[in-house]
Amino acid sequence: SQVQDLSGDKVKAAKDMGFVFDIDGVLVHGDRLIPEGRRALEILNGDNELGIKIPHIFLTNGSGKPEQPRCDQLSKILGQPVDREQFIQSHTPMSALAEYYNTVLVVGGEGFKCRDVAQEYGFKDVVVPDDIVAWDPTIAPYRVFTDEQRKTANPRDFSKTNIEAIMVFSDSRDYATDMQIIVDLLRSEDGRLGTMAKDPVSQRIPIYFSQGDLLCPSEHPFPRMSQGTFRIGLEAMYKALTGEDLERVIYGKPELATYKYADEVIMSWMEKIHGEEKLPKNLYMVGDNPASDIVGGNAYGWNTCLVRTGVFQGGENDEQNPASFGVFVNVLEAVKTAMKKEL
Ligand code: G3P
Ligand code: MG
Repeated sequence: SQVQDLSGDKVKAAKDMGFVFDIDGVLVHGDRLIPEGRRALEILNGDNELGIKIPHIFLTNGSGKPEQPRCDQLSKILGQPVDREQFIQSHTPMSALAEYYNTVLVVGGEGFKCRDVAQEYGFKDVVVPDDIVAWDPTIAPYRVFTDEQRKTANPRDFSKTNIEAIMVFSDSRDYATDMQIIVDLLRSEDGRLGTMAKDPVSQRIPIYFSQGDLLCPSEHPFPRMSQGTFRIGLEAMYKALTGEDLERVIYGKPELATYKYADEVIMSWMEKIHGEEKLPKNLYMVGDNPASDIVGGNAYGWNTCLVRTGVFQGGENDEQNPASFGVFVNVLEAVKTAMKKEL
C-alpha cells in the first residue's frame, strides 16, 4: 500500500503540473520536426510511468492561417495530437474584438488567408488591402497588381465605407502597399478613405497588432524582420506626418493579455482531460526566445525553460531575461527535468 500511496501522490502531482510550449524553435523549425519535440509530447500524452496525461498547451506568436488547419499541419509534423482547444496563435485572442467592430481592415499573411481567419473569428465585414487596390490602383503607386489578384479581390466604393479598425494579423507581404493604406486610414476621418481628418487624434480609428516580435528566424542566415519592425516603421511615419504618437494595441507573447488568455485555455483543457477546471500550480513555459517566451513567462510567474534549438544562441543563460528553471539543450531535456522535480 505504500507503493500505492506513493503513486497516488505522484498522480496528484502530475495533475498539478502543466506545460506551455512555444512552437517555432522548440518543437519544429517551420515545417521540419525537432525530433525531441515528438518524444516530449508522447511522454505528456501518457507514455510515462504513471500512464497519465500531463496537461499542456501551445502558445505561439505564429500567425496567418485559421487555427484548425494549422493544428492539423502540426499534428502531422509532430505525430502527436495538437487540438484546437489547446492551441493559441498570436491572433487567436483577437477573436474577442469581433463584437466591437463591424468593418475592419485585416493586414498581412499569404493571399487571402487572413480574411478567412477574421471571418472565422466572427468579423462580419472584412476588408483586405487588395480590395482597396482593386477599387483604386492609384492608392498604391508602386504596386504591380496581377489579373489573378484583381479577380480574387473584393472591391467596392471605399469612399462610402467607414473602416472601423485596423487589425495587423500577420507579416506584411508588401510593405509599400500596406503601409500606405494604413497611414491613409489612420489620417482619415473615422476610417473613410479619400478624407483627411482635421484633428489626427479624435477621429483616428484604432490599430491592433497580433504580435510584437522584431525578428523571426528563417532559412536566411540572419533572422528576418517581423511585425514589430513593421509597426515601428509605421509609428515613425505616422509621427513624422502628424506630429502625434500612434496609440496601438499589441497582442502575442510577451504581452500580458495573451498570458491571461492562456490561463483560460489551460483551465478548460484541464477540464477536458482531468474533469476539473482549475489551473495547475506548477506551470512550465518552454521557449527559445528570451525576449518573448521567457520575459513574458517570468513576468507571469511561470517556471521558464530556455532551449538551445531556436533563437537563443547565448552562454549559460540569457543575460537580460534569464530562464528561471534553466537552459536545456532541447525540449525533451526540459520536460524530463521538470517532471523529475515535480513527480
Ligand atoms: O515570429 C513569429 C513566429 O515564427 C514565432 O513563433 O512559435 O516561436 O512563438 P513561436
Ligand atoms: Mg519560438
